Amino acid sequence: MALRVLPTNLVNRIAAGEVIERPAAALKELIENALDAGALRVDAVLREGGRTLMSVTDDGCGMTAEELVLAVERHATSKLPDDDLAHIAYFGFRGEALPSIGAVSRMTLTSRARGSSEAWSLAVEAGAKGRIQPAAHPPGTRVEVRDLFFATPARLKFMKAERSELQAAVDVVNRLAMAHPSVGFTLSDGERAVVRLSAVQGDLLDARRGRLGAIMGREFADNALKIDALREGVRLSGHAAVPTLNRATAHHQYLFVNGRPVRDKLLAGAVRGAYQDFLARDRHPMLALFLELEPELVDVNVHPAKAEVRFRDAGLVRGLIVSALKHALAEAGHRASTTVASAALGAFRPMTHIASHSGRPTAGFGAPGYGSQATTLPRNFPRGLAEAAAQYFAPAPERTDHLPGIAAAPAGKVAEVGEGVGEDRVAYPLGAPRAQLHETYIVAQTADGIVIVDQHAAHERLVYERMKRALDTAGVARQALLIPDVVELDPGAAERLAARARELAELGLVLEPFGEGAVVVREVPALLGACDVQGLVRDLADELSELGQALSLKEKLGDVCGTMACHGSVRAGRRLSLAEMDALLREMEVTPHAGQCNHGRPTYVELKLADIEKLFGRR
Ligand SMILES: Nc1ncnc2c1ncn2[C@@H]1O[C@H](COP(=O)(O)OP(=O)(O)OP(=O)(O)O)[C@@H](O)[C@H]1O
Ligand SMILES: [Mg+2]
Repeated sequence: MALRVLPTNLVNRIAAGEVIERPAAALKELIENALDAGALRVDAVLREGGRTLMSVTDDGCGMTAEELVLAVERHATSKLPDDDLAHIAYFGFRGEALPSIGAVSRMTLTSRARGSSEAWSLAVEAGAKGRIQPAAHPPGTRVEVRDLFFATPARLKFMKAERSELQAAVDVVNRLAMAHPSVGFTLSDGERAVVRLSAVQGDLLDARRGRLGAIMGREFADNALKIDALREGVRLSGHAAVPTLNRATAHHQYLFVNGRPVRDKLLAGAVRGAYQDFLARDRHPMLALFLELEPELVDVNVHPAKAEVRFRDAGLVRGLIVSALKHALAEAGHRASTTVASAALGAFRPMTHIASHSGRPTAGFGAPGYGSQATTLPRNFPRGLAEAAAQYFAPAPERTDHLPGIAAAPAGKVAEVGEGVGEDRVAYPLGAPRAQLHETYIVAQTADGIVIVDQHAAHERLVYERMKRALDTAGVARQALLIPDVVELDPGAAERLAARARELAELGLVLEPFGEGAVVVREVPALLGACDVQGLVRDLADELSELGQALSLKEKLGDVCGTMACHGSVRAGRRLSLAEMDALLREMEVTPHAGQCNHGRPTYVELKLADIEKLFGRR
């Protein structure tokens, strides 16, 4: 074996193996170059997932003929003017991307420098540089890559299906676009645009919200909390969803460091920490966070595709993310996502099945003429439904004086009205309670809408928040039972409860063993009100067996409180007086995080009159 230095061509191909792992990685390098060149428009095309053709056209600073020739040389870069790797101000710094792509494809660069009247082009095929030639091109640069990986057949074999390569490319464009709202982007598959993002003008934070909305959905833009925090020179800004807007995976969590999209385990951990009180473990909030810090506080030269970074002080960054998110969540108070309301509205569907035997729609709620106004339906109404609805709403051909089914319907069980709750309550965020339906839902009237509260979910949340506060301060208030309650259980369950007696007492439940297979309960948490002691103790015993020995009850406080709340006085299926309802609503308003239960489900929905009117075709 002879020891030798490899030829440049081979070196570039080896480098390409790391930098250009798949078409989307090449696309990322090309778009980053365009952004580094100050482009305000970036148009990309990917045919067959990037295998046959990839092109990126920008309106950036462009290159002169000399620069073009240098650009495809290994380690030629314009982005490290002071040779200082600690101060990286651009995406690029290695001068590797273009030579690497050129080594494994047929690449053509065409460019015209800003202010110059001539354009030039240069081709590179499998690393072999062609001659520089005059060309016609507007100011800016176009890089065309054909037959990617043709020079490295092994890599070609590993290419994924066209669809998944295109999806990866969409992801690349979206991520870069999130951090650069003032730049317009398009991505086409050769036939049609798969991404089209127009430049958003204005103040960075507002522009960013617009861009995030375009990429992550209107729902996100409408339901995201604004994050803006500064600690020791590190700035964190961005948007994070209210807990009720969550997803089954963490795919919709984005982190940017000085405008560079990165993947960082630190983010996932910090987000979980901040949201742990509000979300089940397997649900993930959507968010996009942007960190800005001095370049020397972060090393971006740790990953071949620059997808990861290393922070000088990871603890500081993590702490900043957790506290900023927690702060925003606390500020948001009882806010739940508007999607909850629209989902609810979507569920109100015209009841087409009430058509009469003659086949024509019954008059329904139809005084004559009613239908004439009612033909305009929300634009997003599902198609088939819209037609069905139009038919249903159509004026009845003949007048029906009686309303079939309606008059005969029971009035519904409504809690006694009359104790009187002040009219001023209407102006409160959760409004004046008017009724309780199905012994489960509180219906309240606000200034411009209707609020429906799931009393059980709300109570669970209130118990949890109160317990947390009590544990942090004086301890949970207890209430002695007049007659101690003996609960018969199986011996194992009784033992488990007895073993946890001290912890349970801290949470307000005082019990002790009572012979074989039973416990006697002497005190209960006062905040549960009159509660079903037997049920509570049995459920807690079940929960303890699932919990195992490892965790402390405090760590599982959410679950324990849920169990307790289940047996408290406000559980579902319990009649409430108006005064009790009022008390519950008022407490929700002043309790942090009252908008969702411990599992991220909403505790209430608000339907705005404007939406309800649309539903009835009044708008
Ligand atoms: N779209 C473009 N517009 C203007 N100049 C460009 C463009 N693309 C590349 N260049 C020039 O070519 C040089 C080489 O680009 P290349 O991507 O290979 O390296 P880099 O961006 O400097 O570093 P890295 O390898 O880390 O991306 C750049 O430094 C830049 O001067
Ligand atoms: Mg580059």
